[in-house]
Amino acid sequence: MSERRPVEDWATDFDHLSDEWANNSPAILADLRERCPVAHTDRFYGAYLVTRYDDIDELSHNTAAFSSRITAVNENHPDKIKIELPPITLDPPEHAPFRRSLLPAFNPREVAALEPWVTEMVSGLLDAIEGRELVDGALDFAQLVPVELMGKLFGVSTEMGPQFRRWVDEFLKDGQIDIEVARKASREVQAYFAEQLEDRRSHPADDLVTMVLGAEVALEDGTSRPFSQREQIGALFVLMLGGIDTTWSSLGSALFHLATHPEDRELLVNQPELIPNAIEELLRFYSPVTIARYIAEDAEVAGCPVSAGQRMLLSYPSANRDGTHFDNPDEVDLQRAQNRHMAFGVGIHRCLGSNLARMEMKVALEGWLARFPRFELAVDPSEIRWTVGPVRGPRLVPLRILP
Ligand code: HEM
Repeated sequence: MSERRPVEDWATDFDHLSDEWANNSPAILADLRERCPVAHTDRFYGAYLVTRYDDIDELSHNTAAFSSRITAVNENHPDKIKIELPPITLDPPEHAPFRRSLLPAFNPREVAALEPWVTEMVSGLLDAIEGRELVDGALDFAQLVPVELMGKLFGVSTEMGPQFRRWVDEFLKDGQIDIEVARKASREVQAYFAEQLEDRRSHPADDLVTMVLGAEVALEDGTSRPFSQREQIGALFVLMLGGIDTTWSSLGSALFHLATHPEDRELLVNQPELIPNAIEELLRFYSPVTIARYIAEDAEVAGCPVSAGQRMLLSYPSANRDGTHFDNPDEVDLQRAQNRHMAFGVGIHRCLGSNLARMEMKVALEGWLARFPRFELAVDPSEIRWTVGPVRGPRLVPLRILP
């Protein structure tokens, strides 16, 4: 990572792309929630960072002032960001009809129908680990689960897995700091999906590429129109980004947690029926996604004026540790009953793939714990490095499988 100017004060000079942020953001956010709920930085052409649950909830519903046209704060000037990733980069009124056209592919019935395939896929990944004493929970498992699944949903060869992971890393990680890396990845992904779309025109299949080819956006006059090619490619691109890194990071964090908290691991091994509730708590505590908005109109957040033309980070991870909404927010309680967390966002852009993500995590954790009920971290927890960028997670989780 390139040398970055050290942060003087996180309230007035934050740098969410620094190593310090990546490895220490929960403590930084706790401090900001207390003393400066709307932080600012002159870096990144000027940006704000909002940390409290109620403020994020409120501004998420003000889409006129807080536009989704831009969803990341990075070294790229806001005027130069042109990427279209519908529906995540759309505002009302365009957003709802576009989102509605994608929703059926991710409804509970479709997701339930996929579960047997995911169970078998997870079992194959666990077979490959079986017999080893040292494994990497992220490399050998967490990253493979969503990549295999998205490959199946896109109807592409499983050999594309490593390439998908590279693109996701280049776009969401290295590319946040070096814009040229993101641009190159973006061109390659667009060319790849353009080819896939071309192929499905003559060879339609039961997959997301074919679904997007036939998808239509409802218009106000009661008619509808097909997606443009840009929209088709953008939708596939956002499904790839949304579907892979988030689940990879969440599963990696979950294994990290269970490896460092034997009492939680034993609880889930002995009572696997608690796994769905535990996943909600792990999503709350290790929330991977921090998203941005573009400030389209001067506005106020928590009494602080915020200026049009700058960007704003909404810290869902911080909202999820807000003591006004969660008892003992810094403790993981896998049996927590009240848990209206924001890991999947809030408002009109709330995660479209949440049913799929929950099923994937449930099958993956159930499978792992049934096969490897005893394991521990093979390094000191302080050695785990967390990623920077819109999605935070551990890229390496070295584990020792115990007899
Ligand atoms: C644990 C896994 C996941 C987490 C934590 C997560 C988190 C999020 C969050 C926070 C948002 C809101 C973004 C905003 O406020 O602008 C979002 C939106 C979205 N997610 Fe997920 N996501 C996950 C898995 C998935 C999966 C598996 C898919 C699809 C394959 C997916 C597709 C999307 C899409 C398309 C949107 C945009 C929805 C819209 O703009 O209406 N996500 N996700």
